[in-house]
Amino acid sequence: MNAVRTFDVARVRADFPILKREVHGKPLVYLDNAASAQKPQVVIDAIRRVYEHEYSNVHRAAHELSAGATEKFEQARRAVQGFLNAPEDREVIFVRGTTEGINLVAQTWGRANIKAGDEIVVTAMEHHSNIVPWQMLCAETGAKLRVAPMDDTGTLIFDEYAKLLNEHTKLVAAVHISNALGTINPIKRMAEAAHKVGAIMLVDGAQAAPHTRVDVNELGADFYAFSGHKAFGPSGIGALWGRAELLEAMPPWQGGGEMIKSVKFEGSTWAAIPHKFEAGTPNIADTIALGTAIEYLTELGMQNIEAYEHELLKYATEQVSAIEGLRIIGTSADKAGVLAFVLDGIHAADAGMILDQQGIAVRVGQHCAEPVCDFFNQPATIRASLAFYNTREEVDALVNGIQKVKELFA
Ligand code: ALA
Repeated sequence: MNAVRTFDVARVRADFPILKREVHGKPLVYLDNAASAQKPQVVIDAIRRVYEHEYSNVHRAAHELSAGATEKFEQARRAVQGFLNAPEDREVIFVRGTTEGINLVAQTWGRANIKAGDEIVVTAMEHHSNIVPWQMLCAETGAKLRVAPMDDTGTLIFDEYAKLLNEHTKLVAAVHISNALGTINPIKRMAEAAHKVGAIMLVDGAQAAPHTRVDVNELGADFYAFSGHKAFGPSGIGALWGRAELLEAMPPWQGGGEMIKSVKFEGSTWAAIPHKFEAGTPNIADTIALGTAIEYLTELGMQNIEAYEHELLKYATEQVSAIEGLRIIGTSADKAGVLAFVLDGIHAADAGMILDQQGIAVRVGQHCAEPVCDFFNQPATIRASLAFYNTREEVDALVNGIQKVKELFA
């Protein structure tokens, strides 16, 4: 409660220039943070500063600029390490985003460790990026994908999950916070159960890392992936954390410069981690700016962010629930700031259009989680997803917007 009272949302909003703009002549109400979050001025400035003053390739040249850029780049790696409370900075691999992080694990660890008859367990609430890479791996290897079910509130049925685990289970790949439902999964318990049968635990942290305090050790994860663009940083950059012993044993993924120790026509040898998995010139400016975004979040305090968003979700849930003909999809007791709903007799796309005309940005559709919509028998949902710069007034604007949708379409 203290954190909520001391969180100065007006001051925080002033850090985000885009929040001052209007859309269709109305003040922007940005409630599409689960798709991508807005950027504070410090992140925008960091990108500009790199190109204006600091830019050079990293890890290569003997000159001052390159040394400076390399230092900033590696400082961003240490920022990610601290953000996830990872044991070592060499366990942080820079990737394009969560999707690429998961694909990296599927194609390197997966190809080296998964064989016919093995089983991979996912949950019923996964984003496509934590389903399709495993389906591709299963098709290639003859392994089997098994799905841990959820109940009508969108909560994982833990006992059913535990029953799926056996000596064939090699990997559990689960979302930390569902992008379509907001459900927070009990990753620590899930990881403990997975480890008991000798499986490893990969966590899709795309929605969790920007909104809750993440401690990969406390969670018992073996891999954890997240995206910069959802964490108030640039798009096209993210990180995969993995336990050093797993990463060291994994074959490289992409081949090229930077990832090698020595190259001869007779054969090549690989650099140590993390560079083994970072072939080619990386996304230098955006990596450095991701470090800045993490510093910004850390200064606000992840616990303060979590507490503020929790209160705002509670308020939004109460307000939205009072609307007749509205059904919330995803009512787990343990939820983060995602509010997905459907309106009786009104198509989600129509609702999205009317809300947009009022300056309210939400996402409508299946949210890259088609099986979730199938489970709830919905072709699409309307999703408002919160961030720490959203306010109660914006929630009120959403409620008024929904009333308008109802007037026009009901
Ligand atoms: N995964 C993103 C979302 O949930 C794109 O909208």
